[in-house]
Amino acid sequence: MSVIARRAGAAVRTCAAGFGALVLTVAAACGEPPGGGGGTAGLADDPRFVWALTGADRQIHEAVARLWNEENPDRRVDIFFLAPTADEQRQALFQDLQSQAGGFDVLGLDVIWTGEFANFGYLESLEEFRPRIEGTSLAGAVDSAQWREELYALPYSSNGALLYYRTDLIDEPPTTWEELYETGTEAAGKAGVSAYVGQGDRYEGFVVNFLELYWSAGGELFDDAQEYSTFLEGDAAETALDFMTEAYETGFYAEGFDSMVEDDARALFQAGEAVYMRNWPYAVPLLEGEGSAVAGDFAVAPLPTFTGEGTTSALGGLNNAVSSLSDTPKLAREFVLWAATDPEAQAILADSSLPPTLTSAYDDVDDPRLELLGEVLAQAHARPPVPGYNALSLAIQDNLHPAYIGQENPAAALEDVDQAADAALEQE
Ligand code: GLC
Repeated sequence: MSVIARRAGAAVRTCAAGFGALVLTVAAACGEPPGGGGGTAGLADDPRFVWALTGADRQIHEAVARLWNEENPDRRVDIFFLAPTADEQRQALFQDLQSQAGGFDVLGLDVIWTGEFANFGYLESLEEFRPRIEGTSLAGAVDSAQWREELYALPYSSNGALLYYRTDLIDEPPTTWEELYETGTEAAGKAGVSAYVGQGDRYEGFVVNFLELYWSAGGELFDDAQEYSTFLEGDAAETALDFMTEAYETGFYAEGFDSMVEDDARALFQAGEAVYMRNWPYAVPLLEGEGSAVAGDFAVAPLPTFTGEGTTSALGGLNNAVSSLSDTPKLAREFVLWAATDPEAQAILADSSLPPTLTSAYDDVDDPRLELLGEVLAQAHARPPVPGYNALSLAIQDNLHPAYIGQENPAAALEDVDQAADAALEQE
C-alpha cells in the first residue's frame, strides 16, 4: 500500500507500536508512516499492501507473511505490528480509520470487534467468501466474523484458555476453582512462590478472566435472542466477583496481579515464580524454550469450573478484515482468503501453538496439546461481537476492576454492569 508499497525492501518489514496513539510516530521511526490515503498505492508493477495486527506472537505472523511473499513475489505484504494488548490494538485501528489515514489494508480484528467496526462502515463485506469457509473453518470463528448475518472478516487464528501448572509442585490439575485455590495456596506456601498469575489489569484480558469465572458458574450475559441482559440472573456474577475479591485479598493472586497482562503472567511463570497460570497457548513454546526456569516442569490442563464439570474458556482469536479505505482491496481480499484457507499458512499456526481456524489443520497432528485445545475450543464461550461489546467491556473494566481490589462496592458495581449490558444491546 501507498508509501510503504513503494519504498519497503524485499523482506517482511515489521514495525511496532507501543500505544495506539503512537502508531504514526512509531511508524515514522520505523522508516515510513503507513498510508496517507491519497498515495499512488498499488502501482501496477509493484502492488503491495499492509497487514496490521497484534504485536503478540510476532514470529508466527511473520512466518505466514513470508510464505505469502514467497508465493507472491510481485504482490507483497508488509506487516505493521500493533501493540500486544487488545484495547491498544483497537485504539490504533480506530485511529487509522477515523482519521481516514487508510494506512492499513488488512485489519487483524479481535473476534469481539466485528459488529462495531462493520457498523461504522469500516469493513468491506466478505459475504461472497462464505462458501469457502463455512464447514472448513471452526464454526465459532465463522460466527465471530459476522454481523447481522453478513461476513465482514475471515477466520485466521483462534484462541482458548489453558491452565498451566507446575508438575513439580502439583500432582493432578484441579477441576474446580475451589480446588485450584486450595492446592495453589498450599503449594505456594511450601515452595515460597506465588499461587496464581493471570490477567488482572484493567483491560480486555481482565474481562476475559472475569467472564471465564462467570460462565463457569452458569452465568450468561444475554438471553438467547440477545434482547436483554441476563447478567444478574442466578448468582454467577456474585460468585465470580467474590472469588476474585477473595483471591486478591488473601494473596492467592500474585502481587501485581491487578496490573498484569498476558506476557507479565507468562514472564513470572517462566521464571518459576508461580504455581498456576491462566494464559493462552502462545506461552507453551516460550516456557519450553531456552532460558525457561520451568522447562520440563509444567503441563497444561483445561480451566476448572465451579461445578467440576467441563471447562469454560472465552473464545479468543483474530479474524482478518479488509479496510474500506484500502486502495488495494482486491489484493487484500485475496490475502484474507488465503490466510483463512491455505493449509500451509494454517499449519504454521498449528506448529507454533497458535490455534488455527482451518479445521483440517487439526487432523493428523500428533500433538496432545492441540487435542486439548480442540476440547477447550469446543466448549468455549463467545463474547458477543455486537457493536456495543466494547462499551460493555469498558463497564466491566471500570466497575469490576475497582471492586475486586476492594475500592468499589461489589453489589453496586454488578448493577452497573447489568445496565451496561442492556445498553450494549441497544447500541447501533
Ligand atoms: C487474546 C485473545 C483475544 C482476547 C485477548 C484479551 O489475544 O485472542 O480474543 O480479546 O487475548 O487479552
